[in-house]
Amino acid sequence: MNQKNYILWDNSGWIVNVKSFLPDYLAKTESVFCQGNGRLGLRAVTEESYCGMVRNMFVNGTFNRFSENEVTELPNLPDMTAFEIYINGHSFSLLKGNFLDYTLSLNLYNGKLKREFIWISPEQHKFKMVFERFVSMTERDLVGMKISITPLNCDCEVLIKTGIDGQMTNSGSQHFEEGESCVLPGNILQMCSKTTNSDVFVVNQVNLESYIDGWRIEKPFSVTIGRRKITAKGEYVLSPKQTLSIEKLALVITSRDIYFDGKQNRPSTYYKTYAETRGGHIFNNNFDFHFGQSEKTWKKVWNEIDIEISASSNRDQTFLRFAMYHLMIMTDIKDSRMGIGAKGLSGEGYKGHSFWDTEIFIMPFFLFTQPDVARIILSYRGKSLPGAYAKAKKYGYKGAMFPWESAWLDDGEVTPDWGGTDIVTGKAMEILTGHLEQHISADIAFAIYQYYVATDDTSFMEQFGYEIVLGTAEFWLSRIEIDAEGIGHINDVIGPDEYKEHVNDNAFTNHLVFHNLAVAEEFYDTLMQNNSTLLDKLVEKTNFNIDKCREIKEKLYLPQVNSQGLMEQFEGYFNLSEIDLTKYKNASTVGNIYNDYNMKMLSQIKVSKQADTLLLMLLLENVFPEECKKKNYYYYEAKTLHDSSLSKCSHSILAADIGLLDEAYKFFKEGMLTDFGDNLLSSDEGIHSACMGGIWQSVVMGFGGIRIAEEGLRINPVLPKEWNSLKFSIYWRGIRTEISINGKNITVKNEGNKSLNFSHRGQEYWLEPRKKLVFYSNNERE
Ligand code: BGC
Repeated sequence: MNQKNYILWDNSGWIVNVKSFLPDYLAKTESVFCQGNGRLGLRAVTEESYCGMVRNMFVNGTFNRFSENEVTELPNLPDMTAFEIYINGHSFSLLKGNFLDYTLSLNLYNGKLKREFIWISPEQHKFKMVFERFVSMTERDLVGMKISITPLNCDCEVLIKTGIDGQMTNSGSQHFEEGESCVLPGNILQMCSKTTNSDVFVVNQVNLESYIDGWRIEKPFSVTIGRRKITAKGEYVLSPKQTLSIEKLALVITSRDIYFDGKQNRPSTYYKTYAETRGGHIFNNNFDFHFGQSEKTWKKVWNEIDIEISASSNRDQTFLRFAMYHLMIMTDIKDSRMGIGAKGLSGEGYKGHSFWDTEIFIMPFFLFTQPDVARIILSYRGKSLPGAYAKAKKYGYKGAMFPWESAWLDDGEVTPDWGGTDIVTGKAMEILTGHLEQHISADIAFAIYQYYVATDDTSFMEQFGYEIVLGTAEFWLSRIEIDAEGIGHINDVIGPDEYKEHVNDNAFTNHLVFHNLAVAEEFYDTLMQNNSTLLDKLVEKTNFNIDKCREIKEKLYLPQVNSQGLMEQFEGYFNLSEIDLTKYKNASTVGNIYNDYNMKMLSQIKVSKQADTLLLMLLLENVFPEECKKKNYYYYEAKTLHDSSLSKCSHSILAADIGLLDEAYKFFKEGMLTDFGDNLLSSDEGIHSACMGGIWQSVVMGFGGIRIAEEGLRINPVLPKEWNSLKFSIYWRGIRTEISINGKNITVKNEGNKSLNFSHRGQEYWLEPRKKLVFYSNNERE
């Protein structure tokens, strides 16, 4: 179902809004307009309830396993957003009476969600209604809500019921034991609960205040405690044009919070008391104060990350900021025990699990804009190493084999075993990625190397980086099978293209593994010279064997292009049959091919879910000449359905690299519209996190031409014809550098206090601090 121009933007470049209320498609805005701060994520649900809505609030890291038959997931916490509103005896709903001037807007600059309209009750009385909400970027446990109701042409009696609702589930799985609820002095409600298995203790606490025309009403709310629910009720009488405002400040504290130092075995009263003290501090101030504080933090964030695009329409500018907004609210920038969910914190999809999406698609944004956060993101993998060693052992390998899907640090592999329907058997399909999609270990090593080159952060390398690379290399050494002719193979895997299972010598996997081994060798040699004590320790821990590495690396089969310049995606791919893919390529929703083919059948045809060989040519760009990239681009794009949101951005960047600017822009635009476009069913279970990173990468690494190349930083921008100019800043080895491009010039400005070394169109440059270099822009890459 599509609704043309559903999500709109305005002239400011900062505000996204929708002008119609579509009760059958609530999930679209719930996900896409969600709010958060990296620790806490909240879907943009309406206060009043509608059938089909999904109230979700998550706190990163609070994973729980509901039963032995299910994998661990991020539990949906008790809800604090629901309000029942009765006006003159009618329960308020947009499905009753009528409404005018509806706008739901999200201000990306300050994170405020606002819904406003005039409601016309069944008796034709008019009410101005405004709903505002923020998730604080400053106080990471705080959500602020404000409802304002103004009768325009009548007196009215208003009754409000709201509180904390612990009856929430993840599609039926209740992750909490029923805890205790109570009323604290003031209008404070509290609910304490604990996850059923992982023993994460959660305290929800809300403070309610009401005002008429700005005057605080002293009258306390009356409170009812029910089963898994505590509700306050307030009653008011309003004259025409008087405004009733209800402010609800809501805190969520969990025993997984960073300030508890991971010590989770304290008595529940400890967290309860902590929450009460915290409430005493936070509830001293009102909605506007806390919103102001949060806005200040957002401002600082935008000062670091903003990108300016000038074009005839503000769409690309606004939606690029929308993507960066999502990257910021999905990532815990303080706590390295937390991964980034494939749906961020915006929905139950993928159960809050992290994939390679983090390292390959999301991490570059942080690496270039907030390298300290990139370190935190990669440290999560460092802290998950015990799980990676355990997974390798379980499968009979050595070293560190990272889980395809990860949750809490010691959860290990959490990929579910079953999902989707097999069109032939009618049964659930077996999910094999947790067993076979092993390239993630090499992807993580790839990201570590990128971080190492772009930051020179030896302290991270010593803490985690070297160990991850040596540990993953050791895994591959035990994984590669040497045949009778002495050639090394990686058999029985799933490459990035998940429409192909049990394949041998997937080009992407083999080349990335070769890179992993080469980096391990490089690090080994560096450490041998500079820090042999550390090297000894690492060798002991990872069992990494340098001689074996040198030997097997040379034996590893590295697929090469054939006489037509084409690289075979995996052994035997070229023998597969071709079918007409037009129907699937033109479909407005993804995964339609499953309606006609099951996984076994898909394995026999030349069709890809997402970029696979092309992504290899993008990541290891210097291994493949441009002509080869071009040939493979045309060959594989025609067979790719882009059924994963990771696909279009990769195509966009590669197309920009090989001079296909119109293609690059087309894929950038389509990638950007994955969540923000007109498909109302695109984001039901949450937004696509990797795609948000991909949108940023298409702009900065694709058009902006920023790349961590063999020679170091490369800056080779090209502007699509749809834009007049592009301006962004990146960090390179601690130096903030501003790059601006317009039709005439490319300007590189060193804003740091060290000399900047980079290459541009094959030439090397040194740029002194505070100086700039201006290049003529002929919009060609070489
Ligand atoms: C894609 C994977 C991706 C996962 C999570 C799947 O549909 O094929 O590459 O990691 O979604 O985003």
